[in-house]
Amino acid sequence: MKIFVTRKIPKQGLDLLLKEHELEINPHDRVLTKEEIIKGVKGKDGLLCLLTDQIDAEVIDSEPNLKMIANYAVGYNNIDVETANKHKIPVSNTPDVLTDSTAEMAWSLLFSVARRIVEADKFTRAGKFKGWAPMLMHGQDVTGKTLGVIGTGRIGTAFALKSKGFKMNVLYFDRVRNEQLEKELGAKKVELNVLFKKSDFISLHVPLVESTEHLISENELKIMKNTAILINTSRGPVVHEKALVKALKEKWIFGAGLDVYENEPKIHPDLIDLDNVVLQPHSASATVESRTKMAIMAAENMLVGLAGEKPPNCVNKDIFN
Ligand code: DGY
Repeated sequence: MKIFVTRKIPKQGLDLLLKEHELEINPHDRVLTKEEIIKGVKGKDGLLCLLTDQIDAEVIDSEPNLKMIANYAVGYNNIDVETANKHKIPVSNTPDVLTDSTAEMAWSLLFSVARRIVEADKFTRAGKFKGWAPMLMHGQDVTGKTLGVIGTGRIGTAFALKSKGFKMNVLYFDRVRNEQLEKELGAKKVELNVLFKKSDFISLHVPLVESTEHLISENELKIMKNTAILINTSRGPVVHEKALVKALKEKWIFGAGLDVYENEPKIHPDLIDLDNVVLQPHSASATVESRTKMAIMAAENMLVGLAGEKPPNCVNKDIFN
């Protein structure tokens, strides 16, 4: 069968596909336009795509032969799953394999902001370090503080569990109880406004759906402590970026660490000049290990889907009922 791959992914995944199928891979190192994706999908049985590709009804409807869509990401808000359902096309994602890498990135950002690592690095490189000084680069301690985790699925749970060594008081918000966090950390499930009010560090781990869009906006930022640090490794639109810029400029909170942006790859221009925010290029899962496992997982899902069976990481299992 024929598969369209919207951008080069690690070889281990491509090799698996090549053993059984024919591949057409985007030859450019850039995101394709919708027209290019539609052209690529023409005459293909499978589509292996990325979170940067908008796989909407126009794309899915364009190829009546399409049998499988494998996303190279755990988040799949880029795919119109309802339209895939209509055509009984399985859609898969890549859960688990990037959980720890993403949780580690959230911690990296948390420490970078709390201890002003990027700002201090720039300061030092600029030759401004004139010796130890009692008032230089005061940050925030992490040990013993209150950690607020919003969304305690796989990544939120892994992130919270990594707080163990820092003896933190863990609060969480989720629709369902997380007994593991309660048992292992003594974590407390609280309402969002309580979490905002009491947490020193707030980390977002929710999927992007209607109810989580702009979950963090002006009101929420105003409730937070003025020493609070906000970390976002989930999806950009969960945070109202303009409101965050205002909060950071006017020091409603201490700082923020962002891996994702509201209008990626565009970043609010004012964020660039602020010292109290650390910015990453949506690279939370970017480790050799995770990206390789994601490629293998996406390929394995594709192979099973093209064989007419339910892929192991199918997000629309109901189509098989
Ligand atoms: C995902 O897989 O959804 C991540 O955002 C990729 O880094």
